[in-house]
Amino acid sequence: MSANLTKIAILISGRGSNMEAIVNAINSGKLGAKVCFVGSDNENAKGLQTAHDFGLKTLIFSYEESGGKNSSKIKAEEDLLRAIHENKAEWLILAGFMRILSKKIVKQMEGKVINIHPSLLPSFKGAHAIHDALLYGVKITGVTVHFVDEFVDSGKIIAQTAVEIEEDDSLESLSERIHKIEHSLYPETLSKLFVKECK
Ligand code: GRF
Repeated sequence: MSANLTKIAILISGRGSNMEAIVNAINSGKLGAKVCFVGSDNENAKGLQTAHDFGLKTLIFSYEESGGKNSSKIKAEEDLLRAIHENKAEWLILAGFMRILSKKIVKQMEGKVINIHPSLLPSFKGAHAIHDALLYGVKITGVTVHFVDEFVDSGKIIAQTAVEIEEDDSLESLSERIHKIEHSLYPETLSKLFVKECK
């Protein structure tokens, strides 16, 4: 049974609610995967405690500047790649990871890096997608799960769900609806991808 489980590494930078949704889907038998480790660029990420409470291995990849910004990114990614290989992770799942991966790591993982973004890409890329959609006044936004390349919120789209913006929506109310959808769309999409991989 466990031989059929897809081995994944999850990267977070903050709250980790999408990581939590993925682990809950695994624990309830809805997603045939095993989490090799939960990694973060932020040692204070709230989600690290959640991962720890789940009994998962947690790792910090330090992007702190030591020999210049670029060299710290190179070092952090070398550590990440080593951890991926040592822990035999097959897929890299980004769940609120606030760093852009380099071309090198994306190439090495070859179509096995996935991200979730709180808008209907290619609209509203970046760190403030929900806020930006509200500000722009669009009537429909949503959630996108996509393959990751070396650019910001780029890469081929795998799944999307639309969310209507109500007249009286605030950042909080819209964020809440979007996150709720993320928490089901992400595990469901991964489940379909991993099943396809087994065939
Ligand atoms: C989510 O909205 C996700 O789409 C985006 O970052 C946010 C992470 O939230 N990439 P959480 O840390 O999973 O709670």
